[in-house]
Amino acid sequence: MHQVSLLKRLAAFALMAGLAGAAMAQDAVKVGLILPMTGPFASTGKQIEAAVKLYMQRNGASVAGKKIEVILKDDGGVADTTRRLAQELVVNDKVQFLAGFGLTPLALATAPIATQGKVPMIVMAAATSIITEQSPFIVRTSFTLPQVAIGIADWAAKNKIRKVVSLVSDYGPGIDAENAFKGRFTAAGGQMAAELRVPLANPDFAPFLQRVRDAAPDAVFVFVPSGVGASFAKQFVERGLDKSGIRLIGTGDVTDDDILNRMGDVTLGVITSHHYSAAHPSAVNRAFVDAFTKAAQMRPNFMAVGGYDGMHLIYKSLEATKGATGGEALLAAMKGMSWESPRGPVSIDPQTRDIIQNVYIRKVEKSGDQLYNVEFDTIPMVKDPVKAAKP
Ligand code: DHB
Repeated sequence: MHQVSLLKRLAAFALMAGLAGAAMAQDAVKVGLILPMTGPFASTGKQIEAAVKLYMQRNGASVAGKKIEVILKDDGGVADTTRRLAQELVVNDKVQFLAGFGLTPLALATAPIATQGKVPMIVMAAATSIITEQSPFIVRTSFTLPQVAIGIADWAAKNKIRKVVSLVSDYGPGIDAENAFKGRFTAAGGQMAAELRVPLANPDFAPFLQRVRDAAPDAVFVFVPSGVGASFAKQFVERGLDKSGIRLIGTGDVTDDDILNRMGDVTLGVITSHHYSAAHPSAVNRAFVDAFTKAAQMRPNFMAVGGYDGMHLIYKSLEATKGATGGEALLAAMKGMSWESPRGPVSIDPQTRDIIQNVYIRKVEKSGDQLYNVEFDTIPMVKDPVKAAKP
């Protein structure tokens, strides 16, 4: 008799615990954040992780009555790993959002999983134009290379640069950058003397820099992914290109805020176009840079801003659905959303799910002992030009 009632009580307790567990699980929204935390692109992972943490610190860890739980996974920058981690996060952890994606191949590998699982996939870094076309559940808070490259192409054409060699990392975003620059620059009367593509893995720039020298252009237009600019700048100086009279121009990936001070004075006067500079003169950005620097002990770069705005999109879409988590409802809420980012005004293009944003023309200048990309011209609210040109 006693025995039976104890068993009954145990059973009742187990049932209650189970129900409470289920209720708690329902009240949490899980975000599977997949980033390269190790390997050659770990700086991207570190910047985005710090930005996600900062967003939650400044905005609270719950929204619309739901606790936000971020599950961070390291893919080491390897696409097969990203895909497997995404699959596990959707199937086993039942995440309601996928986020991160530090490089184009990692985002492309995951797109089918977002589609099958109907899970919103927030691309915070990868920047090849075609990515958002790979799943209707992808929304991007970073940028596209064509979106930013046309700014520097226009600047070059207007500033007595007639002959250019392009030098880009040989994969999606590099080829996008090369095509966008070339199309825009040659349409304005400029000439491409050579188009060079450098391997993405362990790049040795020396033979390519020699070819740049031999072609003797007015400028070399460069795209390398975030973090790689440091070794590029080192070899640029070692090969004497800094004293050759050939100007260095590019998208802002090469003068990345994370590494700019380490690149040194060779960057002084370098003109680039990009969507974010830590020196962007707005109150929202100053507060962001201060808080980020205090929390993470480093300067935020464009990757950090992509991560910060990605979290903003997750929070605001949940607010709009009053905490409901279906992929379709969340996507509907994200489309057309606009806000003031540390980079300036932004909105999500309802047609393409890409971010519409200002593109700034910037020049590297010294302030005290610090190097900054100082914005001096703005092209307002630019859409990805590749998709805008499609019927
Ligand atoms: C990509 C990666 C970068 O680090 C960058 O600066 C731009 C684009 C990419 O792989 O899409």
